Amino acid sequence: MADDVVIRPMTELDLEGITRIDERITRQYRPDVWERRVGYYLRRDADSSQVADVGGKVAGFMMGEVRGGEFGLDEPTGWIEFFGVDPDVRGRDLGRKLIDALLAHFRAQGAHIARTMVATRDEDIAGFLKAMQFTPAPLTALEKRL
Ligand SMILES: CC(C)(COP(=O)(O)OP(=O)(O)OC[C@H]1O[C@@H](n2cnc3c(N)ncnc32)[C@H](O)[C@@H]1OP(=O)(O)O)[C@@H](O)C(=O)NCCC(=O)NCCS
Repeated sequence: MADDVVIRPMTELDLEGITRIDERITRQYRPDVWERRVGYYLRRDADSSQVADVGGKVAGFMMGEVRGGEFGLDEPTGWIEFFGVDPDVRGRDLGRKLIDALLAHFRAQGAHIARTMVATRDEDIAGFLKAMQFTPAPLTALEKRL
C-alpha cells in the first residue's frame, strides 16, 4: 500500500475526490464550496496545494499558499488552510507526506515560517499539527459576532 502513494500538486481534476473526502469527514456534500476553493488555490499558485494519490484515487489533500503582510506580519508566511485524509487510510503517514510537500514548497517560495489556525474543539487536527511540530503562536485570535 505504501508504494502506491504518490504526493503531487493538486489539479482541477481532483475536485471530485476532494469533495468525496470532505463528505466522508463532515457528512456534507459541498461540490460548490470545493470548486471555489480548488479554483482559488490553483489560480494563486498551481504548485502549492497537494494531493495524496493512492492507486490512482485521491485519498488526501492539503491546500495552502505563501502570503505576506497579513496581521502586521511582514515576513512571507506559508499558510496551511484546508486538509483532509480519507478515514479509510488514516494513520499511514499520508498527512505527514502532504504537509512535508507543502512545507518544502513554502520554503522554496522564500517562507521561513508556516502558520495555521485550529478551532479549539478540533482536537483531532490539533493533535496532528502538534505531532508535526507546530507550536502555539504568539498571536491572539479575536472575534465579534455580527
Ligand atoms: C489530521 C489528519 C489529516 C491526519 O491524517 P493521517 O494521514 O492519519 O496522519 P499521519 O498518518 O500522516 O500521521 C502523522 C503523525 O501525526 C500523528 N497524528 C495524526 N492524527 C493525530 C491526532 N488526531 N492526534 C494526535 N496525533 C495525530 C500520528 O500519530 C503520526 O505521528 P507519528 O509519526 O509520530 O506516529 C486526518 O486525521 C484528517 O483528515 N482529519 C480531519 C481533518 C478535517 O476535519 N478536515 C476538515 C476539512 S478542511
